Amino acid sequence: MTLIFAHRGYSASYAENTMGAFLEAEKAGADGVELDVQLTKDGEIVVIHDEKVDRTTSGTGFVKDLLFKEIRKLNANVKGIKKEPVPSLIEVLEWMNTNKLRCNIELKNGLVPYEGMEEKVIRLVRKYDLMDRIIISSFNHYSIVDSYRMAPEIETAPLFIEGIYMPWIYAQSIRAKGIHPKHSAMSDNIIINTMDSGIAVRPYTVNKDMDMHRFFNINCTAIITDDPVKAVRIRKQYEKRP
Ligand code: G3P
Ligand code: CA
Repeated sequence: MTLIFAHRGYSASYAENTMGAFLEAEKAGADGVELDVQLTKDGEIVVIHDEKVDRTTSGTGFVKDLLFKEIRKLNANVKGIKKEPVPSLIEVLEWMNTNKLRCNIELKNGLVPYEGMEEKVIRLVRKYDLMDRIIISSFNHYSIVDSYRMAPEIETAPLFIEGIYMPWIYAQSIRAKGIHPKHSAMSDNIIINTMDSGIAVRPYTVNKDMDMHRFFNINCTAIITDDPVKAVRIRKQYEKRP
């Protein structure tokens, strides 16, 4: 059965990358959540998509230039009524210990080369004993290799925007157990060949009904979607198949 990962939480209806969006994803019946991490000036891992806080919070400036206590004062639910803080990764991992979900941590270190980010994330994943339920992904494939070298017990998955030739060979060459392609970047055949080679395929960001049907139909490993409610509803049609 294709697993459903809620992209930045249940971000179609709740403020992205907030505890509210993660809790609602769990309520919706998602199998996992996807989130993005950046590092504050004082080295705290925070869950936020952009390098700057401007788009998703009440503040301004780069995450790397703000202290954790400064970021915690910001509101990450700017379009909503209830104020929500930017979560720390610690907060999310503590919550993970109360459920059985999987969590895809995307290292957002493509633009800002955060020193030691991989090691910090791995230390926390081990502290909370979540190695079996975490997938570390990144567009920065050097970071994927570093993560694997530091923690071979944690699954890694490179992210792709464009299609690549024989992605399973590439994944195997960097010891990644999965790949996370843009949903339009891979044909059904390539996805099936990749899965047949033992590599998990979790396309992002799958929001249209038609695309969800496509991936459920070929029993893709997982989809990453903003709308886990819709995905759970559509997936029901495929659950009774042998
Ligand atoms: O992990 C899949 C997806 O989240 C990658 O793109 O920009 O939404 O972080 P983005
Ligand atoms: Ca992401």
